[in-house]
Amino acid sequence: MKVSIIGQGYVGLTIASFAADFYDVVGFDSSERVVNQLNQGVSHIEGVPSSKIKKQVSQGRYRATTEACEISASDIVIIAVPTPLTAQRKPDLTFIESACKTIGENLTNNALIINESTSFPGTVRGFIKPTIKKYSGKDVEHEYAISPERVDPGRTDFNQKNTPRLFAGLTPRATLMTRDFYSKFCDNLVEVSSPEVAEAAKLFENTFRQVNIALVNEFAQIEHALGISVYETLDAANTKPYGFMKFTPSAGVGGHCIPVDPTYLAAVAEDKGVRATFIRRANEVNLEMSRYVVNRIAEENGSNLQGKSVLVVGVAYKPDIADVRETAAELVIKHLREQGAVVSWHDDIVGTWAGETSAPLSGADITVVVTKHSDVNVKGLLASAPYVFDTTGKVPGARGL
Ligand SMILES: NC(=O)c1ccc[n+]([C@@H]2O[C@H](COP(=O)([O-])OP(=O)(O)OC[C@H]3O[C@@H](n4cnc5c(N)ncnc54)[C@H](O)[C@@H]3O)[C@@H](O)[C@H]2O)c1
Repeated sequence: MKVSIIGQGYVGLTIASFAADFYDVVGFDSSERVVNQLNQGVSHIEGVPSSKIKKQVSQGRYRATTEACEISASDIVIIAVPTPLTAQRKPDLTFIESACKTIGENLTNNALIINESTSFPGTVRGFIKPTIKKYSGKDVEHEYAISPERVDPGRTDFNQKNTPRLFAGLTPRATLMTRDFYSKFCDNLVEVSSPEVAEAAKLFENTFRQVNIALVNEFAQIEHALGISVYETLDAANTKPYGFMKFTPSAGVGGHCIPVDPTYLAAVAEDKGVRATFIRRANEVNLEMSRYVVNRIAEENGSNLQGKSVLVVGVAYKPDIADVRETAAELVIKHLREQGAVVSWHDDIVGTWAGETSAPLSGADITVVVTKHSDVNVKGLLASAPYVFDTTGKVPGARGL
């Protein structure tokens, strides 16, 4: 069985590394750099060990390519490309469209097409199928399915094997084929009645997190105004054994999912004339959090950051990974600079970002912790500046939310 995976990033490479233990896998990616690295056995994704890719490449079970024709004669093709927002913050399906074009023009046999990219309900039925058809020959009749990805980069307790996976086909045959494919490396497959249910569930999972993060960020501001510790209060509330789930405040949300996916849901809701007030407001609260943090720091430093050297620690959007997409650090740095601070950042996992490199963890007037990687020690953080503001709740002894 030949499986081709379009897009070899966080989602595509993760699935490729599991699938290649059972199938012959071709990883198609438009980036030559990514493809060259992978064929040398070097993984660029946390959680996908280079040793595993190296072994699969040497056994001939996996190869990466930029040549679209190499996906021909696949039995299964998986779409795992980005689904960002346009400049007008609308769903941007251009990467999916380009993946569909690749499939349509290069897959001349009937196959099963599975979408793992996150998008709004109706994407498989109303966009992917007709777009592939537009680029395919007349005699080709593919099956179509969705199985939204739930990978949490950097997480070790939940992985492809033990995370329940939703799936649904456009036809009963597609559903059956999809179950067969994933059952080799996923223990818990959850069939739902239509692709739209699976697509909507994925969006709602991330919307649930976005709204609750916004709620706790607002709560942190209320607690500070009342002079109560938000962390102690959350721990207290969390002793309730039911009906409560603990979220923690932060400088904002980052990554490719939480700041983006809920807007896909809001966009389709508003197209149907339904107001998505929670989603829109949650987005605003999370984006405003970076300004709140910088204003708090200014207040506690004589209301003047002009000329102060400020070190932002952790520019990845979450601990122990190098992903900087939509990171809250970007807005924190922007607002600090607007107030005249001289800003550098320290993040040895990210290394280089936005044309700048990671600075040493020392010698600042002010340190702001946005993301705390495990190997950054608290002692070093507290010694890096006379004033340290922590947005993570992981630096005892620092000022904080
Ligand atoms: N990263 C996550 O934690 C996560 C979790 C669940 C779902 N998702 C969803 O999965 C999808 C992919 O996200 P990701 O994080 O893997 O993205 P990514 O940016 O890590 O990887 C995407 C890869 O696709 C390649 N690419 C882009 N367009 C292409 C094309 N037309 N043909 C071939 N290759 C192409 C890029 O070069 C890149 O290597 C998105 O819809 C995202 O919302 C991501």
